[in-house]
Amino acid sequence: MVSVTSCVLIALFAFGHLVRSYYTEEYRPQFHFTPEKNWMNDPNGLVYHNGKYHLFYQYNPNGTTWGYMSWGHAVSTDLVHWKHLPIALECEVDSNGNVLEMFFSGSAVVDANNTSGFAIPLGKDRRGKVIYSQPMVAIYTSNYPTAHTQSNGVVIQEGQQSQSIAFSNDDGLTWTQYEGNPVIESPPSEYADQYNQFRDPFVFWHSPSSKWIMVASLAMKQILLIYSSDNLKNWALESQFGPYNARFGQWECPSLFPLYVDGNTAAEKWVILMGINPGGVITGSGTQTIIGSFNGTTFVADPTDVTDPTQIPAGATVFQDFESTSSTFEELGWTATGDFAGLGPQQASTVDVWNIMGYLGKGVLTTYLFGDVAKGTITSPKFTVTKKYISFLIAGGYYPYNPATAGTGDDNQVSIGLVVGGQVVHSQTGTDTESLVWRSWNVAGWVGKEAYLVVTDVNTGPFAHLHVDEIVFSDTPKDEANWNDLGPDYYAAATYNGLPTSERIVIGWMNNWAYAQNIPTTPWRSAMSVPRKLALKTINNKVRVVQQPVSSLSSLYTSTLYSRKFTALQSGYSKIYVPSPYNARMKVTLRFTRGTGTKFGVVLRSNATNSQETVIGYDFLGQNVFVDRFKAGDNSFVDWEPNPYPGYFIATMPTKSTDAITLTILLDWSSVEVFDGLGQIAITSQIFPLDDSAQVKLFSEGGTTRSVSVSINGMKSAW
Ligand code: FRU
Repeated sequence: MVSVTSCVLIALFAFGHLVRSYYTEEYRPQFHFTPEKNWMNDPNGLVYHNGKYHLFYQYNPNGTTWGYMSWGHAVSTDLVHWKHLPIALECEVDSNGNVLEMFFSGSAVVDANNTSGFAIPLGKDRRGKVIYSQPMVAIYTSNYPTAHTQSNGVVIQEGQQSQSIAFSNDDGLTWTQYEGNPVIESPPSEYADQYNQFRDPFVFWHSPSSKWIMVASLAMKQILLIYSSDNLKNWALESQFGPYNARFGQWECPSLFPLYVDGNTAAEKWVILMGINPGGVITGSGTQTIIGSFNGTTFVADPTDVTDPTQIPAGATVFQDFESTSSTFEELGWTATGDFAGLGPQQASTVDVWNIMGYLGKGVLTTYLFGDVAKGTITSPKFTVTKKYISFLIAGGYYPYNPATAGTGDDNQVSIGLVVGGQVVHSQTGTDTESLVWRSWNVAGWVGKEAYLVVTDVNTGPFAHLHVDEIVFSDTPKDEANWNDLGPDYYAAATYNGLPTSERIVIGWMNNWAYAQNIPTTPWRSAMSVPRKLALKTINNKVRVVQQPVSSLSSLYTSTLYSRKFTALQSGYSKIYVPSPYNARMKVTLRFTRGTGTKFGVVLRSNATNSQETVIGYDFLGQNVFVDRFKAGDNSFVDWEPNPYPGYFIATMPTKSTDAITLTILLDWSSVEVFDGLGQIAITSQIFPLDDSAQVKLFSEGGTTRSVSVSINGMKSAW
């Protein structure tokens, strides 16, 4: 018999479902932008005009994987609620089905002074003066898969990438391609062979020189080309920039814009923001920034923002540089087990054959011995931690250390770990490249303690090897790049034209090419990050790019659903809140101070048995914010090795023991984004919880956490 109450419940549920059937599929982001259906990648043509934020995006009108690239289009008045508009620029296919032109990434500007001549008369004002439209001009890469001759006579090679423009006189609804396209047919002659790797123009109006400036990428050369123009049609090459910092991958989607330091309008600096893929901070796609100056023709990086990978940090002590290539590991005081027993560092002459790059000197530790089949460990002698950082060069396959499987039959790690008191307190795996890059661990929390390093390769799968070199101890970290987001899912970030310098809004593609086309969502694939506001802030004497979600996002916050303060949160886990799965979208704000414990945080999308959980917190000893998605849900959509998806992501953020730390976490149906109070770190990560459970738990590990306050707001759906 069905009771009255359950009848009401069923009715409510059914009613709720009816009302909200739009955008409620499994994993459908509730407060992030997604197309209704089909594949999306990079945000394009972000421009604010006539009260509207335009969002164009890389879009496949025909399917849920990459292809037929076109520019999708949406608008918003608040960066939160979006209205879908018709496709702006649609991929061109000839009568035989050959794709002639795809519209790759680019930018948009409003040509208020009609420098392009694309404006049209709209009528006359009261004095009889003709009023003209303000054309919106899109500047994009024409990617031509098929050789052909265009109707304007331009001969196109197969695979060519050129820069083109199109204009709209109805605020982006309909577009006309310029008859003189492409406006930059090929890269400068010294890079003629890069005709098929020349893309992603970002254009802006530079008032001091009264010119349009374009920055475009020679993706495989890690070089940005800077051009100028009076009319958006004729472009002159002014300068080039790069390679710098993260460079073992393709440089894509660059942009260049000014920001004020600490809000001081007299202290302007310029920032390059760009994607690199592969070669991102985790593996696959990543986003880096470089701060510098721009004089209208040339960008010069601040020396403090670029790093020379051939130099060790000032004042560093070399712990091991593996230069004794004639010695075994044992002779160096290390212990090697398994297939590595009796062996030692390898010589340049050997490893160069394998295309290993970026190591220093002649010797390097590698587990690529007899191929990927070699298994075993290589352990350093014990040492006392004396300095704040351990930095090293590393490369290899992405097989992260997973505490749940380490030492078991399921262990597949290929990583280097720092062991203190019998615990692995830091670990680093490769980023799926053969080129060594700098990584640093903050070890301030263990100064005075005995420690050792262990390279573990228990994997014989593809890419199952690690290269390590130049292990140094120092007071300052040595990192490959200024990563703009330390998570795996923030790429091709682009900023809005048409807003004041103090309102630099950025949107990133919340995905990673390493697995993007496999994520388990349908009928759409890929979401954008929440829009974020960028600024420059001086933190610990260094100017940094900081970011926070745009304030208009608060229009989606519900009233506080949970709020509590703990003078001292005891060691262990406490379940604090259990929303329905439907309501598993929220903003969690944590404020806390170090107690006797070593870690503090929150567990989201957790089930009763903890077999599913996304763990986010702060490590007081390792001095980092972390996101752990090893058990976040589905990762079976990746069916190859190394699986680039599972992982534990850290963002180093040194604090003093008395500091109150603030973290803001945005949880949506298939993502988490984490920001600290100053905006100095961001970690963006997709998650695909399989279990409907949505328990929220707080935890303190190894002791208490003091002055904890937690508050949770629900997030209304933006759809
Ligand atoms: C970056 C990217 C761009 C290119 C676009 C094609 O994700 O590879 O370089 O313009 O995607 O869709």
